[in-house]
Amino acid sequence: MEVLKQRILEEGVVLSDQVLKLDALLNHQVDPILTMEMGREFAGRFADAGVTRVVTVESSGIAVAFATALEMKVPLVFARRKKTLLADPDALCERVPSFTKGIVTDIMLSRQYISADDKVLFIDDIIANGDAARGLIKIIQRSGAELVGLGVVVEKCFQAGARTIREQGIRLESLVRITSLEDGKVVFGE
Ligand code: G4P
Ligand code: NA
Ligand code: NA
Repeated sequence: MEVLKQRILEEGVVLSDQVLKLDALLNHQVDPILTMEMGREFAGRFADAGVTRVVTVESSGIAVAFATALEMKVPLVFARRKKTLLADPDALCERVPSFTKGIVTDIMLSRQYISADDKVLFIDDIIANGDAARGLIKIIQRSGAELVGLGVVVEKCFQAGARTIREQGIRLESLVRITSLEDGKVVFGE
């Protein structure tokens, strides 16, 4: 998505060789018009997949997942993060490490909002190491639903997340691929 590359160049801040701050677009502020364009792009790419639900993890994935769900006219379900695992017979839970926060969190999705009849499209903002994504993928698989694919706004190609997920045979579509953040410069890939 060219418009997104432009906005990342204008509004992203390279914090290190590993981390690109995208608070202006994804993690603190969202531009509804740009976000709807992202949603239309994902909806178009997965138009023939028979998606019945869009799924994400709170919080930064919610806006673009909502835009995608609105375009596809299906519900959006967001997995919750909780500090402790309370016994909930309806909940599918996974423990995941968080790259940016340096802590472990539990993500939870109630069986009430996902079932074996669903065809699920997982939308997320940024894929880095893919720990959070793998956690939600495990939850989707345990629910019995079919995962038709994963759509991410920004794929950081120099970290292993996207590659390992594709190696599992999962379709992963990204709107923008970043191959390097070295020397304070954002380099995009094809
Ligand atoms: P992920 O790739 O599945 O997201 O897992 P990973 O463990 O690699 O990343 C953990 C968190 O760090 C994710 O946010 C991810 O979006 C964020 N992150 C990783 N690299 C970058 C980066 O270069 N820039 C920014 N802005 N974020 C990055 P999260 O923990 O899911 O939190 P939230 O944003 O939803 O609150
Ligand atoms: Na994030
Ligand atoms: Na996210």
